[in-house]
Amino acid sequence: MGAGVTRHPEDAELEAGTSAHYEDPAYYQQTYARRTEDVAYYVDLASKHGGPILEVGCGNGRITLPIARLGLDIVGVDRSAPMLDDLRRRMQQEPTHTVDRIDVRRGDMRRLRLGRRFPLVICPFNAFLHLYERKDVEAFLARTREHLTPNGSLVFDVSMPQPSELARDPARAYSTPRFRYPDASSSSMLVRYSERFDYDKLRQVLFVAMEFSPVNGGDSWMTPLAHRQFHPQELEALLHYNGFRITSLEGDFEGSAATSDSESLVFHCKLRRGWRPA
Ligand SMILES: C[S@@+](CC[C@H](N)C(=O)[O-])C[C@H]1O[C@@H](n2cnc3c(N)ncnc32)[C@H](O)[C@@H]1O
Repeated sequence: MGAGVTRHPEDAELEAGTSAHYEDPAYYQQTYARRTEDVAYYVDLASKHGGPILEVGCGNGRITLPIARLGLDIVGVDRSAPMLDDLRRRMQQEPTHTVDRIDVRRGDMRRLRLGRRFPLVICPFNAFLHLYERKDVEAFLARTREHLTPNGSLVFDVSMPQPSELARDPARAYSTPRFRYPDASSSSMLVRYSERFDYDKLRQVLFVAMEFSPVNGGDSWMTPLAHRQFHPQELEALLHYNGFRITSLEGDFEGSAATSDSESLVFHCKLRRGWRPA
C-alpha cells in the first residue's frame, strides 16, 4: 500500500473474510468432501453446454477437475494462491488428457480480462458472496458480460439468507463434535470446533468466526469468513440493471424451482438483448 493511504478497518475485516478460509486447502477439501450434489449439478450442466467453460472462483478445483475429466476445456480463475497451488498439485495426479483441458489463472473476478468469450460462465458455491458492495457486483457482472458469447449463460449459486440464522447472538458459540484437523505433516490433530455468527445488518454481511482448539493442548486459532447476504429480489434487480435476465431460478441442485423455503438459489442468466451500460 502506498504511503499516505489509510486502510479502513472494515476493508481489512472483509479481506480476511475473503481469504482466510481458503488458506488451508486440505481443511477445505475435508470439510466439503460430502458436498457432492453441486459437483454433479455443474458437471451435468457443463456436459449439456459443452466447452469451453469459464469457472470464476474455482478454488482448488472441486468442480473444475470433474468437468475437465469429461474432456471439456475449462478456464479456472481464483484469487487465492493456496487454493490454486492445491489445484495444480491435484492436476499432477490426473492423466495428461485431463490436465490439458484445464487453464488455471490467478485473478480477481472483478478485474478479469481474458480477451475471449465462453458459452458458459459458472461461479459455484457462494463465491458470489465475496462481492460485498454494489461496485463489486457491478464489476463482476461487467467482466462476465465481456466473457460471455451473445447467447451464453451465467450460472451461479448462493445461500438464501435465513432470518433466524442472521439473528443469532454473536456471543453464543455453536459447537460441533470434535474432529481430526488435517495437518500438513502426516499426523493430524484432534480439535474442538465451534462457530460464532455476527450479522452486520447495515452492510448485509454475515461474519463467521470458526474457532479451533486442539484437544491435547497447543494454541487455539480462529478463521474468519465473511459472506454478503443477498436477498433474492435484490439479486434480481442487480442482474436486471447490469444487463442480465434470469432464465431460471432453482432452489436446490436437483433442478427444483426455488421456493420461500429454499436454502440455496441457483441463478441461470443470459444477457439482456439490446441492453447497453448507462
Ligand atoms: C467457497 S469457495 C468455492 C470454490 C469452488 N468453486 C468450489 O466449489 O469448491 C469460493 C472461492 O471464491 C474465491 N474468491 C473469492 N473472492 C474472489 C474474487 N474476488 N475473485 C476470484 N476468486 C474469488 C475464493 O478464493 C474461493 O476459492
